[in-house]
Amino acid sequence: MRETMTEMIRLARPHFDEQEEAAAARVLRSGMLVQGPEVAAFERETLAVIGAGSEAHAVAVSNGTSALELALAALDVGPGDEVIVPSVTWPSPGNAVLLRGAVPVVCDVLPTTFNLDPKAVARLLTPKTRAIIAVDQFGVPADIAGIRRVAGDVPIVEDAACAIGSTIDGASCGLQGDLGTFSFHPRKVVTTGEGGMVLSSRPELVARVRTLRNHGQVEVGVFREAGPNERMSEMQAAIGRVQMSKLAEILRVRRAVGDEIRAGLALAWQKIPEGATVNYQTLGFVLPKPASGTRRAARDALVKVLREDGVEANILSYALHRLPPFAAHAVNTARELPYADAIVESGVALPIHTRMSSSDVAKVIDVVRRRAEFALGSTDVTL
Ligand SMILES: Cc1ncc(COP(=O)(O)O)c(C=O)c1O
Repeated sequence: MRETMTEMIRLARPHFDEQEEAAAARVLRSGMLVQGPEVAAFERETLAVIGAGSEAHAVAVSNGTSALELALAALDVGPGDEVIVPSVTWPSPGNAVLLRGAVPVVCDVLPTTFNLDPKAVARLLTPKTRAIIAVDQFGVPADIAGIRRVAGDVPIVEDAACAIGSTIDGASCGLQGDLGTFSFHPRKVVTTGEGGMVLSSRPELVARVRTLRNHGQVEVGVFREAGPNERMSEMQAAIGRVQMSKLAEILRVRRAVGDEIRAGLALAWQKIPEGATVNYQTLGFVLPKPASGTRRAARDALVKVLREDGVEANILSYALHRLPPFAAHAVNTARELPYADAIVESGVALPIHTRMSSSDVAKVIDVVRRRAEFALGSTDVTL
């Protein structure tokens, strides 16, 4: 007897077709592989697609992590400085701070949006605070206006790695801080394989990032300061241009899928703040505190059974203050980051991508409803 294998519904899948293939081939045939017209066009077209005003500029770089490093370098963050970072995140923002020789001050997040809590930020500000990195976690806009109110003129870097296409009060994520960054990693809504971008409306910061990404050259052969090579290649940019031209369609499908799954499952979903539209880069929820055993054990068990049933669930994120490179710098004790711990130990990501069919969506809802029955009806992170 032949067994039929159920195909796994993947957590994420890039949205590629023959247009991206043609774009990559066009660059290969041109013979011009770096620092050519594709990168410049990708920068211009991205600004247009996200509705940036004429004062905004974009600098395409090698990935979202280098975008953060260059943003901090442009702000002259260095030894002796403190930079406030949210605890719930992929480690890049914290790594970028450490690699500048500065101290990442790890801050708790809100149990609702999973983003920086402005009140917690206010408690961590010191005369040494040189910058704040606000992550738009999983594509949900951070409360940058709220952070601005407590932080005065401390520069804010908006880490919009996950948030291209998301908006707050009608304005694009990535444009809310003094500098913003995107990632074009394959798990992101728009991808160039590896890739990133720095955005800013402050000309002096934009010029500095442009210089720094290219060995510290202000023009060919004029080296002003030591700089890395963090350039985006022409092939990546050509692929990115096609991807960016599809952003509206990608968002339409992702929002339809995300809205349907969220509406079909009464779980403690990441909250979308009033005035925001999101790209559903990740579809995340938290489990209630289990009656017995640890949060982490209950979550890991759920992820395992969902996968056994063909739904590629995953853990949601990491708690920076629990990772070895940052433990020494977590100025708070564990009890002062309760929400970050709860979210990271009980968070689950469900599949979302543009290739999901309506039967895939129905299957995700059905499997999660059966396997996570204990979590239905819970509304928040319980401490
Ligand atoms: C919040 C955040 N910042 C930065 C990055 C880094 O992006 P990249 O993988 O392009 O270096 C990621 C990647 O997942 C991220 O989630």
